[in-house]
Amino acid sequence: MFSLTLWAKAAVLTTQWGRHARNLHKTAVQNGAGGALFVHRDTLENNPDTPFDFTPENYKWIEAIVKNYPEGHKAAAVLPVLDLAQRQNGWLPISAMNKVVEVLKVPSKVYEVATFYTMYNQKPAGNHHIQICTTTPCMLQKSDSILETIQKKLGIKAGETTPDKLFTLIEVECVGGRVNAPVVQINDNYYEDMTPKDIEEITDELKAVKILKPWPRSGRFCCEPAGGLTSLTEPPKGPGFGVQAGL
Ligand code: FES
Repeated sequence: MFSLTLWAKAAVLTTQWGRHARNLHKTAVQNGAGGALFVHRDTLENNPDTPFDFTPENYKWIEAIVKNYPEGHKAAAVLPVLDLAQRQNGWLPISAMNKVVEVLKVPSKVYEVATFYTMYNQKPAGNHHIQICTTTPCMLQKSDSILETIQKKLGIKAGETTPDKLFTLIEVECVGGRVNAPVVQINDNYYEDMTPKDIEEITDELKAVKILKPWPRSGRFCCEPAGGLTSLTEPPKGPGFGVQAGL
């Protein structure tokens, strides 16, 4: 009876906690990571016959990349070589992945890596690939309001591209800039300390083909305390400070 009561209490608590956790934050319903695809399905535009080969210049880059890794660890070149393929083609068709397999001779790893990281686009993306972080630190700094603003402004949901092919929006887990949360990554640049007004301005400026200054929008130089320094505010004391006289 005792263990049954405990079990019942645990079940109630688990249900309540589960309900609470889902209320706290619920990731958008997705077809894979951030709206991107987890698995490959042949389509007219993306199949093993989709034309792809590296340019002669990029073959030289691959040689240089592979030399960065010691013998027995060449598989580590998968990430940068996939990135090179995507930069050349704009996105990563299965034929580009097959080419990377052929060049690096590391079959399974290429597909695992390409489908794991949200930085690799397995379908054509817009000119501006918006990745909004909604992981806990960014969520606590109201990343949901940024996501909502982008969706309203561009008329698309996570995982979609605008009809003019200018913007693709995906929702991602931490992009590594949480001290400046909330963070939005657009192509190679980070936009930090974001507010809904900032993302409105940024999308307007991108539409107007302006060159934008990335990094914090709040006026912070980097990731120093937002309210000013709270320590190390005096000049250093110099050598010997605080050391016993006998020493
Ligand atoms: S949690 Fe958003 S950048 Fe890390």
